[in-house]
Amino acid sequence: MRNQTDRFILGDTLMILRRCKTNSVDIGVTSPPYNKQEDKKGWLVKNVKYVGSSDKKTEEQYQMEQIEVLNELFRVIKPGGSFFYNHKVRWEKGDLIHPMHWISKTLWTVRQEIIWDRMIAANIRGWRFWQVDERIYWLYKPVNNKKIGTELKSNHALLTSIWRFPPERNNPHPAPFPVRLPLRCIFSILGETQKAVVLDPYLGSGTTGIAAKLLGYSFVGIDISKEYLDLARKRISRLQDYNEIFNQEKEKHIVQKTFKERKTNGEFTGRFSKENIMTMTPIIPFSKTLF
Ligand SMILES: C[S@@+](CC[C@H](N)C(=O)[O-])C[C@H]1O[C@@H](n2cnc3c(N)ncnc32)[C@H](O)[C@@H]1O
Repeated sequence: MRNQTDRFILGDTLMILRRCKTNSVDIGVTSPPYNKQEDKKGWLVKNVKYVGSSDKKTEEQYQMEQIEVLNELFRVIKPGGSFFYNHKVRWEKGDLIHPMHWISKTLWTVRQEIIWDRMIAANIRGWRFWQVDERIYWLYKPVNNKKIGTELKSNHALLTSIWRFPPERNNPHPAPFPVRLPLRCIFSILGETQKAVVLDPYLGSGTTGIAAKLLGYSFVGIDISKEYLDLARKRISRLQDYNEIFNQEKEKHIVQKTFKERKTNGEFTGRFSKENIMTMTPIIPFSKTLF
């Protein structure tokens, strides 16, 4: 709630979540540890090590734990509430591990898979295309088993399902997401006008807390590392550093022209028309052979 004290909780997320009240939180955003195996060969992220915890579990153990965490989050979020879960596709010994593999075993309704195009990422192995994308799963807790729920306002819904912004720079945490990411999630669902509590169960350097505070919400953040919680406190105390990003993001949620206006003006609406196809497809002269 607005003016309610924000909370930085030190400890293991599953243990803490089990002690949280049912239906007590409005919205959450997080990025879990990813089980990167730290320095194991074959992973696209090398030498990302957290202070205070090991990111080396068997994949089975990691997924079981994530299912438990996600189900506790489902209990804690209010009905009709959303949770945004950022993860990447990974590989182990050549086999692709998709996050939906474990998300589909949880209680959540998956509303959307959003592609986060980071545009840049560490690339240590060359046996596949350079992976610059991550995923954001928009998870929804239905009310009375109704899975559709309230629609997004059109100024948010007109953003596409591909989010393109670079990762955070100048942040000593080894794996932060940029402020834009939780900002877009929370702003799209709640706007700026309500009272709400935002939760990040793997708070890290506090990026979700920054987004929550910029929008005027209170938040609860959990992390196993005291060092990261101290860093989060420090970053959140300097909210003014993020004003420019905040304003840039808000501008993206202003509708320049509605669908109807575009249609009336004969502008691109996302629908295929003969004209649109002509402008999208390269035209090959008939005189040239194709192969
Ligand atoms: C990918 S990072 C989150 C980064 C965050 N989104 C940010 O922008 O800084 C994952 C975090 O999970 C924390 N963590 C790892 N295992 C944990 C556990 N069992 N309980 C709570 N936090 C944990 C790590 O300390 C790390 O800060």
